[in-house]
Amino acid sequence: MEQTQLTRGQFLQKLGLSSGALMAFYCMGTGLTSCLSSGGDDPKPGGTNTPGTGSGTTSGAVKGTTSGAGIDFTIDLTNADYSKLKTSGEFGYVANIIIANTGSGYVALSKLCTHQGSTISYRNDSKDFRCPTHGSEFNQDGTVKLSPATQSLQVFKTELQNSGNTLRVSA
Ligand code: FES
Repeated sequence: MEQTQLTRGQFLQKLGLSSGALMAFYCMGTGLTSCLSSGGDDPKPGGTNTPGTGSGTTSGAVKGTTSGAGIDFTIDLTNADYSKLKTSGEFGYVANIIIANTGSGYVALSKLCTHQGSTISYRNDSKDFRCPTHGSEFNQDGTVKLSPATQSLQVFKTELQNSGNTLRVSA
């Protein structure tokens, strides 16, 4: 039997996902397993339950600049892909940024560990961030809590807008 190799995009397309959903997958990158889908939400292809959003270029819910020097974007927290961020203890990723709801506000940091670049995750029990590869830990202000990492993570500003339904993240 001949086996045809599919690209990731082709595979996802075979699953019937829209381009918007595909983009969401790509944006999640390596943090997919610990991303916002942990609670079993099933994002609807094309963002059909997203009120008032048209043709988003990132995933429909994220608008603005998510990479480079001028990072400044908003997240629609009413969108199914990101609504979990309204819950204390939840976290997610946009491009190379991890965003956590610590219960006392939002923290946004570079998701890339300064040791060797693995994707960090948020730990709600200790209110900090941990890299799974070699165990580095980071405080909410990005500083190193536990080596081997020695450099701080970049910190981004967060601001809730639109009665708490929009989160702005900026450099
Ligand atoms: S890559 Fe994060 S601790 Fe080594």
